[in-house]
Amino acid sequence: MKNKEIVLSGVRPTGQIHFGNYYGAIRNFVKMQEDFDHCFFFIADYHSFTTQKDASLLPQQVRRILATYLACGLDPNKAAIYLQSDIPQIPELYLLLNMISYKGELEKVPTFKEKIRQKNQSVNAGLLTYPVLMAADILIHRSNKVPVGKDQQQHLEMARDLAGRFNHTFGEDWFPEPQAFNFKQELAKIMSLDGSGAKMSKSDNNPNNSIFMGDSDKVIEKKIKKATMDAGPTTPNSEKSPGVVGMFGLMRCVSAPDVVEEYEKQYNDCSIKYGYMKKQIAEDLIKMVAPIRDRIEDLERDTATMKKVITDGKEQAYESAEKTMEGVRRLTGIQYF
Ligand code: TRP
Repeated sequence: MKNKEIVLSGVRPTGQIHFGNYYGAIRNFVKMQEDFDHCFFFIADYHSFTTQKDASLLPQQVRRILATYLACGLDPNKAAIYLQSDIPQIPELYLLLNMISYKGELEKVPTFKEKIRQKNQSVNAGLLTYPVLMAADILIHRSNKVPVGKDQQQHLEMARDLAGRFNHTFGEDWFPEPQAFNFKQELAKIMSLDGSGAKMSKSDNNPNNSIFMGDSDKVIEKKIKKATMDAGPTTPNSEKSPGVVGMFGLMRCVSAPDVVEEYEKQYNDCSIKYGYMKKQIAEDLIKMVAPIRDRIEDLERDTATMKKVITDGKEQAYESAEKTMEGVRRLTGIQYF
């Protein structure tokens, strides 16, 4: 029997959505909602508690993510857009999946090991079982296509393992094994503006290293102007330093191909002026970000619209989750009379 393709992805409401998130992920969600009948996009608010417990910050972060999702083009008529905490079946499934997850395998997850290495982090049980909750997020709709970045592959593998283990333990292929969905994005990695060669990251503490979707035109200009490159090429066709690679990468995402080509040529014959290149990037980046930013601001003021979207999304996600849990309760024997 063939499963219908069910698409699901989520985002933690910590940090601001940056251009890398938009270009690498959200833009693709927007395309997927056209191509797939069943799309679920949610805000992983429970997940934020693994690292942050500031009750006064959360509502504003959740509203901002939702406004950003909508401003980028996610459409509540084409996808269910909802909150993790609105669907009680998720923690219900999480609890049961915890019973078939092993301490040893969870301790081996690279993101967990990394958290242990950063000694300033308190290592709570939620951090250890982060991938189990994520597996519950995915399996709750029996999803099979999960658009996520490379950094989430290990988590997805855990979700696959748990799906298979559940099926095996309880004797029916109830869960499909969710697959990563990769877009053929021409290696469009959006780099940090610090010239380090690292990706733009939500957990980067220096806001000057990222372009946020809520940044004003002025701020974008300033950040690009300050971005670290190098002293410029002195020999023809020389290798590019990480900061220069990053700026060309960004330019390829926002500027016209012939413009990029012209700057490549100038780089290779050493006539390039980074100042002009940066001006061009800032200008084209602003063209892409400004309309989205303006919509984010409008939506953030429009609480009624956001509330309606989230209520509708909850209804759809709840119904789908309940169907999945009926099977789970039946297969696990949690059905006594
Ligand atoms: N862990 C993901 C991240 O940090 C967020 C997330 C939580 C998620 N649950 C998910 C992503 C389920 C995809 C599917 O980016």
